Amino acid sequence: MAAPDTVYTGLLLYRLDGVVFHSLHVPFGRRSCSILAGQWKWLICRRRVDEEPTHIDIWLIGQIKSPSGALLSLPLDHFEEPCPCGGTMHSIPIKPRKVAFDVSSVPRHWNGGDPVLTRFFDALSVHFPEGERFFIQSVRHFQDQVTDTRLRDDIRHFIRQEGQHGIVHDRFNDVMASQGVDVEKVTANLRLFIRTTQKYLPKKYQLAMTAAFEHFTATLGEAMISDENDMFRQADPVMRALFLWHGVEEVEHKAVAYDLYQGAAGGGYLTRASALVVATLMVHLVVAPVFWNMLRLDGVTRQPGVILRGLNKLYGRKGILTGMLPEFLAWFRPGFHPWDTGMPEQVAAWLEEYEAHGDPMRASQVIYGPATVGEAA
Ligand SMILES: [Fe+2]
Ligand SMILES: [Fe+2]
Repeated sequence: MAAPDTVYTGLLLYRLDGVVFHSLHVPFGRRSCSILAGQWKWLICRRRVDEEPTHIDIWLIGQIKSPSGALLSLPLDHFEEPCPCGGTMHSIPIKPRKVAFDVSSVPRHWNGGDPVLTRFFDALSVHFPEGERFFIQSVRHFQDQVTDTRLRDDIRHFIRQEGQHGIVHDRFNDVMASQGVDVEKVTANLRLFIRTTQKYLPKKYQLAMTAAFEHFTATLGEAMISDENDMFRQADPVMRALFLWHGVEEVEHKAVAYDLYQGAAGGGYLTRASALVVATLMVHLVVAPVFWNMLRLDGVTRQPGVILRGLNKLYGRKGILTGMLPEFLAWFRPGFHPWDTGMPEQVAAWLEEYEAHGDPMRASQVIYGPATVGEAA
């Protein structure tokens, strides 16, 4: 398919009427070529390297037919902001989705009846609303300095998505409170911790930490939705849909805080790198005790076999967190950009189904198939 004088350089999001909206700087080869619903299509683009780069060749994927067969050539000035690879560096458009989940009858150990796999996500959930409010505030500090209209839009949509995540997780956290989890205390502790952070850390560092946390949530989102991990195969359908919706949106907005940090905030490499170290430590120091207390509440701390089996699914050789490591550590590469890993096919499939029916339950079935719940109550 490629002529010898060309190299693959990225992906474009292209509309059928010929308007290129967004492109991603994605190395060709992995997780590419997903087709989205409606008028949006993914395309692979490539740049001619043996001549003055004036055009970008676009290889059409899927059912679109260009006027000249399968290959389309666009002048460089068609692109808003040429990047070193010859394309542009924008992400896909971010869409806030107002979804609601009926969590009232979710079983206590909703993830396949496994208390460890359930409480791991529960412990994250209990921290999400306060944490996401911190992310929003960190971004807002720099919002007015942004001149790029697309990034301004992305920031607005990022804020709406994170706000909705907080609302949905708050509802589920009420369910956990009814199980005996001291949600109020956890939230109060986190709020105090965040207030202290905001008091003593520079705003730029707060934004770097937000970008780092966003890297964590996006990498986790990609891992959750990956069929290799099979993390929610036997989960309660409502909770599975809830976490997949959240995970997809984390992938969608994974570059917003990063681009703001690199751009308007003028952030550098060392601060960014140190922020992920601090953020990772914080996740473990803040979330781990809550996780353990939940297991104690369930009487699981007296069952080492159950704990080891569950931890193995998270941290073992084939564990979901272990599998995230290469993408997670890519953050420390000096030229890193969140869209380096592109858009996982599974995320694109979720988006396509959601676009068609507006139903996160159906969209999650595209990934995991019909649910077989592992615990009755
Ligand atoms: Fe979120
Ligand atoms: Fe996020």
